[in-house]
Amino acid sequence: MKNDIVNDIRRRVDIVDIIGERIPLIARGKNFFGVCPFHNDSNPSMCVSREKQIYTCFSCHATGNVYTFLENYEHWDFRETLKYLGDLVGIDVGYANYQKREGKFDKIYEAYRIALKYYQNNLASSVGREAKVYLNNRKIDDEVIKEFEIGLSLSNNDLTKLLEKKDYTLLELNKCGLSSDNRDIYHDRIMFPLYDINGKIVAFSGRIYKNNDQNKYLNTKETDVFKKGHMLYHYHIAREVARSEKCVIIMEGFMDVIRASTIGVHNTIALMGTALTQEQIQLIKRLSSNIILCLDGDDPGQAATLQAGELFLKEKIEVKVIVLPENDDPDSFILREGEERFRSLVENAIYFSNYKIRSLRRNTNLQNDKEKAFYIDKVLEETAEISDEIRVEIILKNLAKEFDIGYNTLEMRFREKKEKKEKPSSFITFTNQVIKEKTKYVKAVENLIYFMLTYDWVITETKGKHLIFPEEKYRITMNEIFYYYEKYGIITIADFYTYALDKQCVKEVLDEVLRENRESVVTAVLLEELYKAIRENSLNLEINRLKKKIEEELDPLEQARLAEQIRKLRIGD
Ligand code: UTP
Ligand code: MN
Repeated sequence: MKNDIVNDIRRRVDIVDIIGERIPLIARGKNFFGVCPFHNDSNPSMCVSREKQIYTCFSCHATGNVYTFLENYEHWDFRETLKYLGDLVGIDVGYANYQKREGKFDKIYEAYRIALKYYQNNLASSVGREAKVYLNNRKIDDEVIKEFEIGLSLSNNDLTKLLEKKDYTLLELNKCGLSSDNRDIYHDRIMFPLYDINGKIVAFSGRIYKNNDQNKYLNTKETDVFKKGHMLYHYHIAREVARSEKCVIIMEGFMDVIRASTIGVHNTIALMGTALTQEQIQLIKRLSSNIILCLDGDDPGQAATLQAGELFLKEKIEVKVIVLPENDDPDSFILREGEERFRSLVENAIYFSNYKIRSLRRNTNLQNDKEKAFYIDKVLEETAEISDEIRVEIILKNLAKEFDIGYNTLEMRFREKKEKKEKPSSFITFTNQVIKEKTKYVKAVENLIYFMLTYDWVITETKGKHLIFPEEKYRITMNEIFYYYEKYGIITIADFYTYALDKQCVKEVLDEVLRENRESVVTAVLLEELYKAIRENSLNLEINRLKKKIEEELDPLEQARLAEQIRKLRIGD
């Protein structure tokens, strides 16, 4: 790999900008802090250093430079990350030089590309006329067909034949989920490609359009590259748009997303008809903190809204909710009511807690005093969850007015609920990780490595000391640092981190080194102390080795010789 380009690009971007575009960062002293996206948290435990161009999470210990951040955050591989950053600073990374390693799943992806072309051709040709009519009746025109790469499967088994001709074995065909026992899986269905979060096709969903006696949608089975609970339809597009719109809208089906795009609403994702999973929540959290649920208006849709809203609450996010008419989904609503009406629904989305209160209300018989009291009680309980005092006041005022109860009485009840709620949550939010106390020696080595990566002269200084490291990982790391510095004549933590990415044990050491906040100034005295601690360690090891030898030695003369050796070592001879 051409390290020059990699480092060159890295030096031209600022990690604070790159991370700051993705998660909110607050400046504190020299560093920036944000909520770490790599573990479940709401505290700003990730520290980003402009000076060192690295990030470190003090909670989950995720650490690295701008490359590792993007790879982990965006789920890109190194090549994609390099290309992205290269484009950003105007450096052509010359794709050819960065040939991606032959991916394990390349062949499966390729099959989907082949299938896509095949399905698209069918729909475009005369055999696709009936399907085209169906789509056009649903107000899906050619432009949308092109944008969402919609296609058509036929009643024959031509896709299987086509793939066989391209050297796919029976086993491989079965693996793809497009073919089974030499027959196509999809027959006479309108084919929608499903994309992973990076926009790669990883499956298809086929909709019936003439045989009404079958399942409406048939999805490709789960494969190594397609896990339903890990994907969200349209995520790769919504990712860009949600950031500028500062909002993301969650819908139930991909038809809803496709429809929304026809009115220029692109910050949408679809759940694919399954309940929201933890993985999906983590993915959605990254797009925006302003999340709007816009599920179907029917009972299952409402139930799903309540469920999803609660899951987000557990993550300390209060989503907003769009309530559609009973018989609508976003698709039918937009078709009938148009863009303006839909946009006004988005603007007027209500907070989840208000939504809960509303649905509670619908299920309560307010003529019955007992039910009424229960309802008021529940509302107060829900309201106690809200941190925004203005919203609390509005809810209480409305409640007081509606049920003709004194505001003060309600407010008092509310305080009681709130206090009850707050008590058990006084737990400390430290991570449960057992922090192993590091020995003086390990601390010294880590500090030394840190200083070597911060001040070039410490490398030269250290090289002359001929220190002994019994652990292979430290030996290798030291040698790599010496080698790197000799070769490039300059070293920074962030650059060396990239270099070390494919050297597992070096990376492990670096992660440890970066994990802690370290002294930033090195003095000759401090350095001498580090050398001393490292020497003492190897000395002690040697002495212990000799002691053991004495115990095993039978010859008294030899024993005396060994004892003398130990004495000499002790006085530093
Ligand atoms: P819906 O039944 O709400 O689909 O299912 P829809 O968007 O309204 O589709 P049209 O308008 O009838 O064409 C929502 C999602 O659930 C999944 C699909 O991913 C769909 O987008 N689903 C639904 C299935 O996987 N299989 C089914 O049989 C039905
Ligand atoms: Mn629908």
